Amino acid sequence: MQLQNNISLKNFHTFGIDIAARQFAAFKSVTELEELLHLPQMHQPLILGGGSNLLFTRDYDGLVLKNEIMGLNIIGQDEQFVYVNTGAGENWHAFVLYCLEHDLAGAENLSLIPGSCGASPMQNIGAYGVELKDIFHELEAYHLQDRKLVKFSKEDCAFGYRESVFKNKYKGHFAIVSVTYKLSRQPVFHTSYGAIEQELERMNLPALSIQGISQAVINIRRSKLPDPAITGNAGSFFKNPETDKQFYDDLKEKIPGIIGYSIGNDRVKLAAGWLIEQCGWKGYRQGDAGCHSKQALVLVNYGNATGREIYDLSERILASVYEKFGVVLEREVNII
Ligand code: FAD
Ligand code: EPU
Repeated sequence: MQLQNNISLKNFHTFGIDIAARQFAAFKSVTELEELLHLPQMHQPLILGGGSNLLFTRDYDGLVLKNEIMGLNIIGQDEQFVYVNTGAGENWHAFVLYCLEHDLAGAENLSLIPGSCGASPMQNIGAYGVELKDIFHELEAYHLQDRKLVKFSKEDCAFGYRESVFKNKYKGHFAIVSVTYKLSRQPVFHTSYGAIEQELERMNLPALSIQGISQAVINIRRSKLPDPAITGNAGSFFKNPETDKQFYDDLKEKIPGIIGYSIGNDRVKLAAGWLIEQCGWKGYRQGDAGCHSKQALVLVNYGNATGREIYDLSERILASVYEKFGVVLEREVNII
C-alpha cells in the first residue's frame, strides 16, 4: 500500500506509453483503499485494473490506485446455477479458466479478454456473441466521495453495448471491489458468431464443450489481435456504430460491400473495422503509431509512440470515416 511519487505507468497499461503518475499506490482491500483516500495530499483518484482499455495522452496529475483485491469463491448454488464471487483485482481470463475447470458455463466465449474482473462490468465486456451482462449477478462498489459500499444489481448497472452506469452517470464515482457472476451447470453453446463454427470444424473435436469453444475463441483471437506483451494496444479503439436501417439501406445501395448486422428495432450495427479498412488505414504506420494490419479497429503502439500521437491518429481515422461514409465513430477506449 506504499504511496509512490512520479512513477512511470509504462508497465501498468497495455498501450505501453511512457507517462508518469504524480502519485501511485496499490490496494489489496477496502480498508487499504479507505486509508489511501484519507491521505491529505490525495486528489483525482483513478482506479486502475489491468490497464487494457486506457489511453493516457499526458502525465496523470493525480493518484492512480491499482486495484489488487483478490479472491475467487463459490458463494452459492442451486440446481441450475453456481454463483462465483471474485475480488476486483482478479485477472479476467484466470476467472474464465476457473469456470472451465469447474464445468461452469457462460464465460467461455469471453476467453482471453485482457484485464481485471473489476473492470468487466465497466464496459460490459463482450465477444463472440456473449456479453458480461449474460453472466452478471451483482457487484459491490465503494463510493469514493461518500466513503461507503453500495451493491448494484444487473438492472442498477444499466448495461448496454460497451456501456454501463460506471462509464456514464457514475463515471469516476466508484471503485468496484467485487463482482458476483452467475454460471450455469448446463451449457448453452453460442457458436454462431463469426468464425467459431469454422474454427471448431478445423479443430475436429469429438464433442462440443465449453472448453472446446473457449479454445476456438482463443485461436481466433490470437490469429487477428495483437498481443499487448509484444505490441502496445487496447483492443478495439472504436465501437461498432449503430445506425437506423434506412440509413444503412441507403448506404448499402451505394456501397454494396458494407457490413452491417441487424440488432432489432430497425437498427443496424456497422462493422467499424471494415469502414476503417475501406478508408485505407489498415496497416498504416506513422512513426510508432499505427493501425493494426490484421484488424483495422485496433490502434497500436510499435514502441515509443506518445498517447497524443495515437489520439491524433484516431482523430484522422474518425474524420476520414465520416467524410467517406457519413458515419460518426465513437471511441471505446477510455481517454485519460
Ligand atoms: P483498465 O484498462 O484498467 O480500466 C478501464 C476503465 O475502467 C478505466 O476507466 C478505469 O478507471 C476503470 N476501472 C478499472 N477497474 C475498475 C474498478 N475496479 N472500479 C472502477 N473503475 C475501474 N474488451 C471487450 O469488451 N471485448 C474484447 O473482445 C476485448 N478484447 C481486447 C483485446 C485486447 C488485445 C485488448 C488489449 C483489450 C481488449 N478489450 C476487450 C478491452 C479490455 O480488455 C476490457 O475493457 C477490460 O475489461 C479492461 O479491463 P482492465 O482491468 O484492463 O481495465
Ligand atoms: N472487418 C474488416 N476489416 C477489419 C476488421 C474487421 O473488414 O480490419 C470485418 C470482418 O471481416 C467482419 C467484421 O468486420 O466481417 C467484424 O469483425 P470482427 O469479427 O473481427 O469483430 P469486430 O466487430 O471488429 C468486435 C469487438 C471485439 C470482439 C469481436 C469479437 C467491438 C468494438 N469490438 O470486433 O472486442 O472481440 O467483435 O466478438 O465491438 C474490444 O472491445 O476491445 C474488442 C476487441
